[in-house]
Amino acid sequence: MSHPLLYLLFCFLLLLPFSTVAQTNGTVDVGSSITASAKATPWLSPSQDFAFGFKQLEDNNLFLLSIWYYKIPDQTIVWYANEGVPVSTGSKVELTADKGLVLTDPQGQELWSSGSVLNRVAYGFMNDTGNFMLVGGGSVDVWQSFKDPTDTLLPTQIMESGGVLFSRQTQKNFSRGRFQLRLLEDGNLVLNTRDLDTNFAYDAYYRSDTSDAANETNSGYKVIFNETGYMYVLKRSNQIILLAPGIVLPPGDYYHRATLNFDGVFTQYYHPKSENGNWAVFWYKPDNICVDIVGKEGRGACGYNSICTINDNNRPDCSCPLGFSLLDRNDKYGDCKPSFTPSCEDGDNKSSNGDLYDLSVLIDTDWPLSDYEQLKPMSEETCKNSCLQDCFCTVAILRGDTCWKKKLPLSNGRKDSAVNGKAFMKFRKGDLPPQPTDPSFPPPDIKKNDRTLIVVGSVLLGSSLFVNVVLTGAFCLGFFLIYKKKILKNRDGPKAAETILRCFTYEELAEATDGFKEELGRGAFGIVYEGVLQMGNSRNSVAVKKLDRLVQEKDREKEFKTEVNVIGQTHHKNLVRLVGFCDEGEHRMLVYEFMSNGTLASFLFGEMKPSWNQRSKIALGIARGLLYLHEECSTQIIHCDIKPQNILLDDYYNARISDFGLAKLLMINQSQTNAGIRGTRGYVAPEWFRSKPVTAKVDVYSFGVLLLEIITCRKHLGELETGLEDRAILTDWVYECFLKDRLDALVEDDSEALNDWRNVQRFLMVGIWCIEEDLSQRPTMRKVTQMLEGVVEVAVPPSPSQFYSLS
Ligand SMILES: *[C@@H]1O[C@H](CO)[C@@H](O)[C@H](O)[C@H]1NC(C)=O
Ligand SMILES: *[C@@H]1O[C@H](CO)[C@@H](O)[C@H](O)[C@H]1NC(C)=O
Ligand SMILES: *[C@@H]1O[C@H](CO)[C@@H](O)[C@H](O)[C@H]1NC(C)=O
Ligand SMILES: *[C@@H]1O[C@H](CO)[C@@H](O)[C@H](O)[C@H]1NC(C)=O
Ligand SMILES: *[C@@H]1O[C@H](CO)[C@@H](O)[C@H](O)[C@H]1NC(C)=O
Ligand SMILES: *[C@@H]1O[C@H](CO)[C@@H](O)[C@H](O)[C@H]1NC(C)=O
Repeated sequence: MSHPLLYLLFCFLLLLPFSTVAQTNGTVDVGSSITASAKATPWLSPSQDFAFGFKQLEDNNLFLLSIWYYKIPDQTIVWYANEGVPVSTGSKVELTADKGLVLTDPQGQELWSSGSVLNRVAYGFMNDTGNFMLVGGGSVDVWQSFKDPTDTLLPTQIMESGGVLFSRQTQKNFSRGRFQLRLLEDGNLVLNTRDLDTNFAYDAYYRSDTSDAANETNSGYKVIFNETGYMYVLKRSNQIILLAPGIVLPPGDYYHRATLNFDGVFTQYYHPKSENGNWAVFWYKPDNICVDIVGKEGRGACGYNSICTINDNNRPDCSCPLGFSLLDRNDKYGDCKPSFTPSCEDGDNKSSNGDLYDLSVLIDTDWPLSDYEQLKPMSEETCKNSCLQDCFCTVAILRGDTCWKKKLPLSNGRKDSAVNGKAFMKFRKGDLPPQPTDPSFPPPDIKKNDRTLIVVGSVLLGSSLFVNVVLTGAFCLGFFLIYKKKILKNRDGPKAAETILRCFTYEELAEATDGFKEELGRGAFGIVYEGVLQMGNSRNSVAVKKLDRLVQEKDREKEFKTEVNVIGQTHHKNLVRLVGFCDEGEHRMLVYEFMSNGTLASFLFGEMKPSWNQRSKIALGIARGLLYLHEECSTQIIHCDIKPQNILLDDYYNARISDFGLAKLLMINQSQTNAGIRGTRGYVAPEWFRSKPVTAKVDVYSFGVLLLEIITCRKHLGELETGLEDRAILTDWVYECFLKDRLDALVEDDSEALNDWRNVQRFLMVGIWCIEEDLSQRPTMRKVTQMLEGVVEVAVPPSPSQFYSLS
């Protein structure tokens, strides 16, 4: 054995991976250069937090001269040269004494430079703050990337009056896009869209209100993102106007950045410095870009003719309405082109249009501009006809009794509950395939599970026609067609107007479930069995619920039909869908879609704890499903038994509420009822015990308990762990932590949740509001949903004076 040799080899191996690192202490000498290639070594900051150099872009052989986070896996880019235009392999960046940084193409042609310098450059320095600096003689800064920002600000960076950030074109195209963040001379920080050719700025869609025309000292003049991660407008009077409320996580452990995203949302993010983790949102503006942009000119958040909806991350999703398609197939945030342009044919017979065209109905959708006529008073019928027979009309919007007719191009389109109106969109008969989906969401955006639903729907439709023709009434009482007449007129478009529930015989279901063999679960109303049904050409798994309670009550025939009818009319992605039923003498059964991932109870309290991200999505899904049941379906449905056993998970782990509509169907005008206690211990609102009328607020209470369970992954009435008796009743423990201001103890072993503390905290506050004993204090599900989404602020809940527990 020759030890010295081994030792040398060891040292060599040890040094190898760090050989690139050893070359730099952050200083870059004049004359240094980097040539663009996949193997090019960037210039690193001393801590290696940031790198300067050529970053290869995904999917192509192009390189962007840029600065990026070097240590974290997604290597987020924070600055780029050459207005974001990438360069090809062989291009070069060189640090020169008289022209600073110079970028040339492989032929030596200059593409970009950091600009002429008065002082000769002594050296360059990649600072640990993410700032690439050119230092002149006498240590004078001659140029800094911080003074020439692109779409991102970093801590210690300052934006002076007149400063501007440009969004990118798209997530992957770094060319300057349509959105700007500017600090105006008057002291306001604003977000606006612009015209791409002339850079003309359209109306602001966010302003910081830090300008005072009457008193200049009271106006802002700098935006400071300080070392500890706080961003504020500094006024000349030295007053600080913080942009984001709340406490920033320590910059020793977290990276912070503020980026004007390509879709126009300005967001402050943080990311744990340890390599794992993701960028989490600390603050963003505007609150809802879909509705906050309303400039007379310009496109709005999405392209012309497009419809903007705000998604779970408070970022816009864009989609073309029926009859329109993307102008650039690769840019779904871009313009939509109509498949036809309404035109007035020869002879200009304005009223002859009706034969050629039809209207699709979009709920809560509006293009608030592009009006050319306003008609009032108008009914739905007259508004529709007026557009149909007017060759100039593309879409008519009806709100209240006012009808606006609009012309192309449509701008600032949005779908939002605040619109509170309907759009009637003209399309040419024969242009459109029938689509049983929500017409405001065109096919490209349909999620996979929705597609399955459509398949199931159309298979059912197909088989119903077939059987109707061939075997009318042979072994089934017939098909139970429920024409949602009201809905036909009011809610949906010409499609999706009817719901078809299939009526099964007892024999069919016995066969499907193999003689009721495979039990899926037992609920308050009966046993659920797994089954497989032949529907058209495919075999689909279903869950068959045998109702035992109702059987004894013979006179409930009509009621059963009514209930089934109501359940059959519900359509929401967070509800389990009813496929059909059986009503044959003693046998009453309900047939539902099969949910492949079981109950939330087994998911939440099982071996593998689901991620916080997954949990928060599930919580939001349940809230939306409940909101739909309470406020958005044709008959109000109070669930009365919300608990993790009644929440199922589909193939994609979407939360689906089950067992709704069985407890008690309540018409809106008699929404208070005093029924016997039906809920489950631990989830039941206190008013049940006091013979108070039951309202939708009982579901809010149960949802609150469930939400706390989802956040903490703990059962409300858990088994006693030794030494943790104080945690046996979850709501008591939550109150205790809340009073001690130690809510973080509730998720102490969940680092993902702790990294997303602001959202966790918000969810916890919402949970505490929901379990308010006084039901008038409890928020409605609409408010709950908005609070969870972060659309409205969550106030600190009142301190529970004497808290209430069931045990
Ligand atoms: C970095 O190292 C170079 C020598 O390689 C030295 O001249 C320079 O002063 C160092 N810079 C800093 C900031 O320590
Ligand atoms: C790096 O940036 C910090 C903060 O702006 C500054 O104090 C420091 O002097 C910079 N380092 C160099 C070598 O210029
Ligand atoms: C980015 O978008 C612009 C404008 O649409 C286009 O001209 C350019 O080629 C795109 N760049 C890349 C790298 O695709
Ligand atoms: C201008 O604003 C500053 C800061 O708010 C205030 O102290 C000062 O009194 C104001 N001056 C006048 C003339 O109102
Ligand atoms: C940054 O700003 C916040 C809020 O004004 C302040 O509390 C903090 O001390 C500042 N940090 C530094 C390093 O100045
Ligand atoms: C326009 O069309 C309507 C309906 O088709 C018809 O009744 C009317 O006579 C036409 N008018 C002219 C001027 O052609």
